[in-house]
Amino acid sequence: MHFSILLIEPPGIDSQLLQLMLTPEKFRVRTSECGLKAWNTILTDDVPDLVVMDADLPQQGEIQITAVQLLEMMNNQAQWCNIPKVILASNSNTSILKISSVTSVNAIILKPYDPRRFIQEVYKSLTQHIESHIAEVNRQHIQLGTAFQELIKLSEIGNTNDLKRNFTQLSHTIEKHFDFEEHFMARHNYPDFIDHHENHKQLLTIVENMKVEMAQSGKSITTKRIVKLRSDLFEDVNDDKQYIKFLTNLRTSLVA
Ligand SMILES: [Fe+2]
Ligand SMILES: [Fe+2]
Repeated sequence: MHFSILLIEPPGIDSQLLQLMLTPEKFRVRTSECGLKAWNTILTDDVPDLVVMDADLPQQGEIQITAVQLLEMMNNQAQWCNIPKVILASNSNTSILKISSVTSVNAIILKPYDPRRFIQEVYKSLTQHIESHIAEVNRQHIQLGTAFQELIKLSEIGNTNDLKRNFTQLSHTIEKHFDFEEHFMARHNYPDFIDHHENHKQLLTIVENMKVEMAQSGKSITTKRIVKLRSDLFEDVNDDKQYIKFLTNLRTSLVA
């Protein structure tokens, strides 16, 4: 099992119980005992696959960091904002409404909670997270295809200024797309990660060289070279099918 969970829960019976429920499921569980420790974890540690957090966090010394503040902080961190969150709350918690408005909160479970329902929510959230990652990878592939189409059109009509601008935008989109895939690949020990990363790196070098060439020569690049770059990138998209298959199997292992 490749999944890791960050449990933000004060020490005590609840924390022990949650760890007892999660450990047999073979998740890697890390714990933060208060808002302040969780804050440091968000700033310094690896991103988990799921956050399970108590809505009522204790004060640590003079400093009180609430569950709402932690959620807002995670929302502002690119790597953390889409990580699913399951919140455990008491009926009397006045922040529930605020918490429920955070989009990445998958479930709020009221205490006392049914252990089976809790574990179901954990699996459901992880499954949804993988599904939305697959959907996002596919969406980004379509976005790249459309951007190339536009670029080829501009090249054919000889619109050098727009072509240069669009090429720069495309290079950022490609970079972001590779980053997006690679973070997830690394987190889930994708077996072909190193080779795939190497392919990404080579493509980025080609894109960078083309950008530099355009900037230095003041000329645009030929349609033939854009078409060649597109087919190189589509080869990578084709390799991504193996990655999607890996994710689909990972998802199935959660449902089984
Ligand atoms: Fe891709
Ligand atoms: Fe890729």
